[in-house]
Amino acid sequence: MPKLTTRLRFIIGAMALALVVAVAAPAGAQQRNPDSSVNPTASAVKEDQLLNELSRISGRCTIPDQKACTIEQPAGRDWRQFQQVTLRWIGAISIVGMLAILVIFYLVRGMVRIESGRSGRVLVRFSAFERLVHWMTATCFIILAITGLNITFGKPLLLPLIGPEAFTTWSQWGKYAHNYLSFPFTIGVFVTFLMWIAWNVPNRVDVEWLKKGGGMVGHEHPAADRFNAGQKMIYWIVVLGGAAVAVSGYILMFPFYGTNIADMQVAQIVHGVVSLLFVAVMLAHIYIGTIGMEGAFEAMWDGTVDLNWAKEHHRLWVEKEMSKGEAGAPPPKGRMQAAE
Ligand code: HEM
Repeated sequence: MPKLTTRLRFIIGAMALALVVAVAAPAGAQQRNPDSSVNPTASAVKEDQLLNELSRISGRCTIPDQKACTIEQPAGRDWRQFQQVTLRWIGAISIVGMLAILVIFYLVRGMVRIESGRSGRVLVRFSAFERLVHWMTATCFIILAITGLNITFGKPLLLPLIGPEAFTTWSQWGKYAHNYLSFPFTIGVFVTFLMWIAWNVPNRVDVEWLKKGGGMVGHEHPAADRFNAGQKMIYWIVVLGGAAVAVSGYILMFPFYGTNIADMQVAQIVHGVVSLLFVAVMLAHIYIGTIGMEGAFEAMWDGTVDLNWAKEHHRLWVEKEMSKGEAGAPPPKGRMQAAE
């Protein structure tokens, strides 16, 4: 009986082997070229199979920087598509769209005037320190914005206009400016955060202000404290947007310090998108601080605002200032006087 079992096992084993050989034979045949010479790589794993299995193809190398061993990284293609196409669309739509809205708004509404005319008396609105911080941050922002836009749009828009040599020189200087001005900008955002946080906590007054459209449409002047809801939004966009561009920017500036390729791609996407939206929002801020509203620019220029301007736009703030004994002073020399 045990002999029979051993024989049976032998026969089944032999049949199984024959089956494997029969199945493997066509595969073996495939490994030959049409001229029947052997093709040694015919059954080697294909590039796209590898890419499907792994997120990247890496080789082995002996240099210390192991990232250099990455041969192909398909996520890089998605990132390049984002960088060269999607990001440009996001920037173009938000910035050109914002400019279009502001032009239309200006044509329809015109400059928001001091309705009751100038009073001939001014209140101090911003200290010299506040103005210094504002203009330092603003100057850095504007240069960072121009040099950053050059990184996103320079190649398709500027290079064909000024040629490769001028574009190279300009871009190189632009890159230095972009890197170095990030430091004073970050400091400016941080000091802005500390300096104005006390007046930028949202409250019920803001809800009413927003419900009345901030008085931008129509002629009603909703109550507001030192900063209205619109300015509080600008403040938080500057603080949070500034923090996001600063953190993502430093990750890009110091590549691969605790980050990998995927992290760098995320940092670049965050930096690009937030910066472009930031620029679009600040265009609206610059508009309202200059040609959009009579009497606003002087607040940041010499630090004072006309009493009537303050009463129309920041009634609650004026009441607080008055209760402190502030009655308004004559305007600084050269400032537009009250209409006779
Ligand atoms: C040419 C550019 C700019 C002009 C003409 C301008 C003008 C002004 C003016 C007039 C005010 C005072 C408004 C008031 O009295 O109620 C102000 C406030 C402010 N600015 Fe600017 N600004 C400019 C750029 C910037 C930039 C680039 C930033 C930040 C990145 C910034 C951040 C702020 C903040 C946070 C406030 C306080 C909140 C507000 O009033 O919206 N500004 N700016």
